[in-house]
Amino acid sequence: MPSSLAAFIRLAALVGLAVAIPSNITAPGSRTETAKRATCTVNSVASAANLSACTAVIITAFTVPSGNTITIAAASGATVTMTGDITFAKTTSAGPLITFNTNNILFNGGDHKINGNGALYWDGLGTNGGVSKPHPFVKFKGFGTFEDVTVLNSPAQAISVGTTGGAAIIQGITVDNSAGDAGALGHNTDGFDISASSVTVSKCVVKNQDDCFAINSGSTLVIEDNTCTGGHGISIGSIATGKTVSGVTIARNTVGPGLYGMRIKVDADATGASVSNVKYEANTITGSTEYGILITQSYPDNDSTPGTGAPISGISFTGGVTNVAVASSAERLVIDCGACSGTWDFSDLVATGGKGSIIAANKAVISGGTY
Ligand SMILES: *[C@@H]1O[C@H](CO)[C@@H](O)[C@H](O)[C@H]1NC(C)=O
Ligand SMILES: *[C@@H]1O[C@H](CO)[C@@H](O)[C@H](O)[C@H]1NC(C)=O
Ligand SMILES: *[C@@H]1O[C@H](CO)[C@@H](O)[C@H](O)[C@H]1NC(C)=O
Repeated sequence: MPSSLAAFIRLAALVGLAVAIPSNITAPGSRTETAKRATCTVNSVASAANLSACTAVIITAFTVPSGNTITIAAASGATVTMTGDITFAKTTSAGPLITFNTNNILFNGGDHKINGNGALYWDGLGTNGGVSKPHPFVKFKGFGTFEDVTVLNSPAQAISVGTTGGAAIIQGITVDNSAGDAGALGHNTDGFDISASSVTVSKCVVKNQDDCFAINSGSTLVIEDNTCTGGHGISIGSIATGKTVSGVTIARNTVGPGLYGMRIKVDADATGASVSNVKYEANTITGSTEYGILITQSYPDNDSTPGTGAPISGISFTGGVTNVAVASSAERLVIDCGACSGTWDFSDLVATGGKGSIIAANKAVISGGTY
């Protein structure tokens, strides 16, 4: 739907609901009841405590003190709109620090910020040690549309997508951890970690120091028209024991510069897991310094002795040319398979620059492509 129409519908919804704010209803038998509250304002931790009757939530600017977290659990179908920034003080709380858990939500951040004050934690060690860092910073649960917010300076991983019960559309969101580049202090600052199905992420921008997207499990996923800079590109995985990813379209994204362009990374010791049917269409990858495209079953190694317990099948580069232009230090395409199969149509892959490509595709047959 055109965004002007969408904006009109949202405005109409807000105005209509505002009319229904608290009023006492005189019921038969002269009993007085308080009507369902429709529009609720969140301007503090306490005011977010119980939003279950709210069909419209307005979040104004406020600061969340140490030791607190926020959950936006409104009525099904609620609109949740930000009119100011939410700022988190350095906290002793574990993540997620803010959770959106509303069915059929329309969350619009109004281009305001959810600010994690990451610089107060960053020490170059991420979630591997040093200062304890709440993670993830932001969690999307429930389902619906999540749009137009900037997630700024997450202590570690930024947004975790764990939606259930319906489809999710995530669009126009910026994850800006670029301040963590200074002194290489930002680490493990993944943009979106996805363990969910029926999710489309489009037109998002991620500036960070780890995966832009990491898809850990799920099916029917679309990652399209996003821009990733500074980090480790768009990843499927790492795939752990018991995890399955199937049916992913990765289209028209722009990635780089950074260590990697796009990866499928399967844990070398994973069993009962698989990756299948991944389509890469018309992506642009530039300036990768280590690997342009890496498909490996040796994770956490990049390219060594692959495992065989988590097969990969049905990988394609079709539907528009994916251009990969790597830095002189990098490999263009590396496939490191212990259990891969099928015919992989790479006819729309054009990879140039760097040192070369290393293909160990096991039983998969790669057809077409320039690498
Ligand atoms: C509703 O009724 C309660 C109890 O009689 C009263 O305290 C309150 O002020 C009323 N609210 C409105 C909006 O009239
Ligand atoms: C939340 O508010 C609703 C009504 O608005 C009420 O029925 C419910 O008991 C409240 N839940 C808690 C945990 O206070
Ligand atoms: C994989 O390659 C990256 C980039 O060169 C490097 O930083 C990382 O240490 C490598 N991983 C392992 C386990 O060797």
